[in-house]
Amino acid sequence: MRRPIVAGNWKMHGSRAENARLTEELLAGCPAQPRASAVVCPPFVYLQEVGRLLRDSAFSLGAQDVCADAQGAFTGEVSAAMLRDTGCEYVLVGHSERRLLYRESDQLIARKFAAALARGLKPILCVGEQLAEREAGRTQDVVARQLDVVLELSGAGALAQGVIAYEPVWAIGTGRNAAPEQAQEVHAFIRERIGARDARIAAATRLLYGGSVKAGNAAELFAMPDVDGGLIGGASLKADEFLAILAAAGA
Ligand code: 13P
Repeated sequence: MRRPIVAGNWKMHGSRAENARLTEELLAGCPAQPRASAVVCPPFVYLQEVGRLLRDSAFSLGAQDVCADAQGAFTGEVSAAMLRDTGCEYVLVGHSERRLLYRESDQLIARKFAAALARGLKPILCVGEQLAEREAGRTQDVVARQLDVVLELSGAGALAQGVIAYEPVWAIGTGRNAAPEQAQEVHAFIRERIGARDARIAAATRLLYGGSVKAGNAAELFAMPDVDGGLIGGASLKADEFLAILAAAGA
């Protein structure tokens, strides 16, 4: 049985005051032991503070990105070891905003995934097609390419510690989520593709859906057999929405 995960990607939002308010509301409303794992991913500069606020709670800490290199002269970068040192358990790699706005390549993302694993972090690999790619019937090609580079570098066994998030780019921040059946189709494809290398790992890997998940649509998305929770953007900044999504993953 795969334990679902609901992860909040705060992106470049928040302030110390807003984070304090949000975490207080999350703590007040969260059951002591939710069925799903709950993760929040604040910006780098707030990780330590948010980690302190959420200490000994049901919430785990995640970062939004990590450097592919272990240490050295890489101005502005943050290493996997630093993230561990700061209390992170998870880290997002290959978010579409990193791929598209900062030109991160599949190869770089695969190295980030490996760097995270090497330091004991659980990487959440984000994959997903753009609208033009979907309309051209290329969704599976794109997702397979993004996935295969990671599987080639780290091996399917690496997914024992990793998570995959399918986030169709056209659904991110648009209010237009993938239909549950559309999400299920791609999730089943991802599981099959991992299964071609290692059936046991494929059956155990958590596959999250991301893209305009809200309290109002979470339950129907999470009801799909291969959807094991969600990666939540905008709705993770509102405690009541995020908690309702977390509850939907435990239903
Ligand atoms: P939204 O939930 O705001 O669509 O964002 C999804 C996302 O990008 C999470 O990583």
